[in-house]
Amino acid sequence: MSLFMPVILILGSTMYSESSFPPAKSISNRLVEKLLLSYNPVLRPVLNETHVTKLEMLILISQILDMNERMQKLITNAWVTLVWKDELLTWEPHKFGGLEYIKIPSELIWLPEVILYNNADDLYRTFLDNRIVKVDYNGSVLWASPVIFHSTCHVHVKYFPFDHQLCELKFGPWQYNGNELIIHGLGDSSIFTSDGEWDMISLSSTNNVMVYPDEPGVPYTDVTYGILLSRRAVFHVINLLLPCGLLTASTALVFFLPVESGEKISFGITILLSLTVFLLLLAELMPPSSVIPIVGQFYAVSMVLVSLSVGVSAAVVNIHHCGQQRSRVPCWVKKWIIHKLGRLIGIRIKRKCKRDYTVYARNKNIKRSPNAKTNDSSQSPLLPRDRDDKENGAILNEIESCGRVLHRDVLKIRQYFDHLKHEEDVRKEWRLVAMVVDRLCMIGYVVCIVGCTVTIIIHIQYDT
Ligand SMILES: *[C@@H]1O[C@H](CO)[C@@H](O)[C@H](O)[C@H]1NC(C)=O
Ligand SMILES: *[C@@H]1O[C@H](CO)[C@@H](O)[C@H](O)[C@H]1NC(C)=O
Repeated sequence: MSLFMPVILILGSTMYSESSFPPAKSISNRLVEKLLLSYNPVLRPVLNETHVTKLEMLILISQILDMNERMQKLITNAWVTLVWKDELLTWEPHKFGGLEYIKIPSELIWLPEVILYNNADDLYRTFLDNRIVKVDYNGSVLWASPVIFHSTCHVHVKYFPFDHQLCELKFGPWQYNGNELIIHGLGDSSIFTSDGEWDMISLSSTNNVMVYPDEPGVPYTDVTYGILLSRRAVFHVINLLLPCGLLTASTALVFFLPVESGEKISFGITILLSLTVFLLLLAELMPPSSVIPIVGQFYAVSMVLVSLSVGVSAAVVNIHHCGQQRSRVPCWVKKWIIHKLGRLIGIRIKRKCKRDYTVYARNKNIKRSPNAKTNDSSQSPLLPRDRDDKENGAILNEIESCGRVLHRDVLKIRQYFDHLKHEEDVRKEWRLVAMVVDRLCMIGYVVCIVGCTVTIIIHIQYDT
């Protein structure tokens, strides 16, 4: 029973409408029928072909959805309003109950052709279809809708992350030339809400007339919007600049670490690896072009300096262990590096070592002429003179030989300890040289890094 009810109702209603009077149509229904009866949406709606259709375009940039520096692509959310005059869609409002406008689907009427020239989407599709348009009684058609545009944008990354980007959106008809359709545009940034990374500084619009090489002499109009954006650098400062700065600063500690810790080189290598990781992060953000951002240049310089510091550390460790080969520090090294440079950078040198060397040298001379020493000892005043000569001679000989042996042994022991001391001193000296070189390199490194940073800052200030 319930299944048949609608059928009966429809049958009943048609029978009723056919039998009695025609159904009452609404005013707008009658108007649409009248307007679209002989309307052809494929033709430009002008009464005379010489008339030019004027298209007003207003764009409000609402959001920057994405800026892909690597793909050089910008995705914007824009509110687009188009107004043009359709000479065929006019009526007198008093004949239609004072109806001054109607809203109809856009596919029923002619739509102007507006193409985004610098499109970065897969297809150059027109964005005007499948919307509702408002038609005024005097023929003025208003098309309004939010649209997401994918456009190409030439990104200049030199000053990343303190950069400004000017991205353009160029709109115009592709087929209708300047004698048929003229586009005139305006832009507005009042509804812009930031996505966190980008702030809009300004939105400009320029209306151009261009002649293209495929059709010489025929003008084409277009409107080009320039969106000037500035990056909010905080995110990148924290994620890219701060780690780089800290790593670079801690590289100075490589020179500060004592050689005995055995960590000098591995510490340098660790810093080098961490810098590489951050450089990779940066490289993923940047387009692979010849323009390297200043941050990248700074990374590169840091990496070169850190590599050098690893090399220098290897050399310093080597110098430190030079003393084990028992060769003494060359005179010029002692004079220039330890005394002059060492004092310059405030490393205190003990004068004591020098005296010890003289003692050692004296003992060496003694060793070379032992006879002289024994002759001296034969006239020792300790020997008693009143004994008889034979006995005395025997005792004397015994004492003499004993003393000689003792003297020789003592000398040997003395020489041994002197030798140890000498070795230790040589080692100390080489260590001192290593320390001076290390400190010098640390100062050099700090000067280099500060110099680089200041140069970069001055460069940025000067350029912008
Ligand atoms: C169209 O306009 C031009 C110039 O305004 C005029 O010369 C021409 O006669 C018009 N054509 C028609 C069909 O009205
Ligand atoms: C048509 O009328 C509207 C007001 O209803 C007005 O804003 C518009 O400028 C008029 N257009 C033309 C082409 O006269």
